[in-house]
Amino acid sequence: MVNAKSIDPTATQPWQRLADLARSSSGMAIGSLIHQDRDYLRLHLGEITFDFSRQRVDSPIFETLMELVTAVGVADQRDAMFAGEPINTTEDRSVLHVALRAPASTSLYVGGVDVVRDVHEVLDAMADFAESIRTGRRLGATGREITDVVNIGIGGSDLGPAMAYRALHAYRSPRITCHFVSNVDPADLTDVLATVDPETTLFIIASKTFTTQETMANAHSARNWLAETLGADAVPAHFVAVSTALDKVVEFGIAATNVFGFWDWVGGRYSMTSAVGLSTMIAIGPENYRSMLDGFAAMDEHFRTAPAPNNVPIVMGMMAVWNRTFLDIPTTAVLPYSQHLSRFPAYLQQLTMESNGKSVRLDGSVVNYRTGAIYWGEPGTNGQHSFYQLLHQGTDDVSSDIIVTANPDSGSNDDARRRHDMLVANALAQASVLACGITADELRSTDTADDLVPHKVMAGNHPVSVILLRSLTPFALGLLVAAYEHSVFVQGAVWQINPFDQWGVELGKKVASGIVEDLASGRSEDPRLDPATQNTLAEILRMQANSD
Ligand code: F6P
Repeated sequence: MVNAKSIDPTATQPWQRLADLARSSSGMAIGSLIHQDRDYLRLHLGEITFDFSRQRVDSPIFETLMELVTAVGVADQRDAMFAGEPINTTEDRSVLHVALRAPASTSLYVGGVDVVRDVHEVLDAMADFAESIRTGRRLGATGREITDVVNIGIGGSDLGPAMAYRALHAYRSPRITCHFVSNVDPADLTDVLATVDPETTLFIIASKTFTTQETMANAHSARNWLAETLGADAVPAHFVAVSTALDKVVEFGIAATNVFGFWDWVGGRYSMTSAVGLSTMIAIGPENYRSMLDGFAAMDEHFRTAPAPNNVPIVMGMMAVWNRTFLDIPTTAVLPYSQHLSRFPAYLQQLTMESNGKSVRLDGSVVNYRTGAIYWGEPGTNGQHSFYQLLHQGTDDVSSDIIVTANPDSGSNDDARRRHDMLVANALAQASVLACGITADELRSTDTADDLVPHKVMAGNHPVSVILLRSLTPFALGLLVAAYEHSVFVQGAVWQINPFDQWGVELGKKVASGIVEDLASGRSEDPRLDPATQNTLAEILRMQANSD
């Protein structure tokens, strides 16, 4: 039931002042700002420094952003989330991913139930299961040890664990390889199955709802593949599930004892610290997994308690609001200078865009300002040799998040250190060039030919956040992801939108179901479809008929 109130943030004084400041500061150059004392834009938390000093923000702008935080009641909204209030109003749900990493000594009641106790029961069961796989105590149906884990899930049931598995490469057990299958394209599952042995493979079917078309189709195909070689009786030893829908899991044929549960107050894109993290725990072990949860918990506590100007997620969120809404910068490039963070941009895309890709406020009124930015990216230095040209000299302004580790996480010999230093040098160079650029005068002073000067000028002034990790440890990954989760929350709070629903994905799913029926029955003249879709469908049916 939707019964939500919202304010119009544009009617607040700080908002109006920020609009004026954005206009009057249009000539403001990051290249000049960085010479000023702006220590308030460099925040340190544990093993991470969040450096916002390359943002187009001076102290009047920063102070007014903090006033906006107060004017729209970010702290009250945050406290309502931590208190378990049903802030996901369109689905009438609490939003409590923070409970997933709360220490066992704490408690948090939802509807009279201590959810922290439930969380730790599942965590203990996961730890026991993960150890049984890692040590070979739990065997496949034919008595062989499990060597491969295939996580079948999509969206939040895939991106978090897939990202963490790569990120925490240095902490993985060498005995076990994890694979992630998400796409309904048969190629995804087929390619993985070609590399694994059914006798030594465990499938984790991860789906909050256990109804998602792609996941269920892949799960059925995987089960048939296993049953064809080992027999149907072998299925229970090779399939476990992670879901909130126990009845549907049992209907699929997985015993209730092989299900790791979570709760409807965990949003899919906020679920990597729920049982959805089972593959991560099997890969890195319960101890490292708990260290990752501790990193999340440390950032949760910081977000809950730190004063706004020193609060990493609040400052990070407000930089995003400033860039998107007031400077009208449409996209944010996520540029991890870390090969092991190669899935981080994809992970962040769901977190940010499914959360804040909204254009009505909580009360249903249409916003008249820009909300969530488009997030995209690739690891550096690869991106430098493909799309950075546009970042430097294109006609659109792009803000960037550069993530870099001071120490390599792959080897510590001299060669690895030397190459890691090259990586770090590139990260810093790009942050500098994006922010400061190079002028015609500077080019001329380096003897650049006159006719080439305009081609080589780089305006710079592109806002950059540099997030510096000492090393990519489980704890640091937890800090990093939780900072983004809460930054997304802060942005949603300012924009007065609901970051926790995703109605925009529903219509496409419904239309696709109709087209699946049409493809099966060979019909293109489906009155439910628009003419362009009918035409393309007819062409596909013709191509399928002539495919031999
Ligand atoms: O369709 C979007 C979505 O609902 C995401 O929000 C979610 O992470 C994904 O699908 C997968 O959902 P499930 O875990 O229920 O299979």
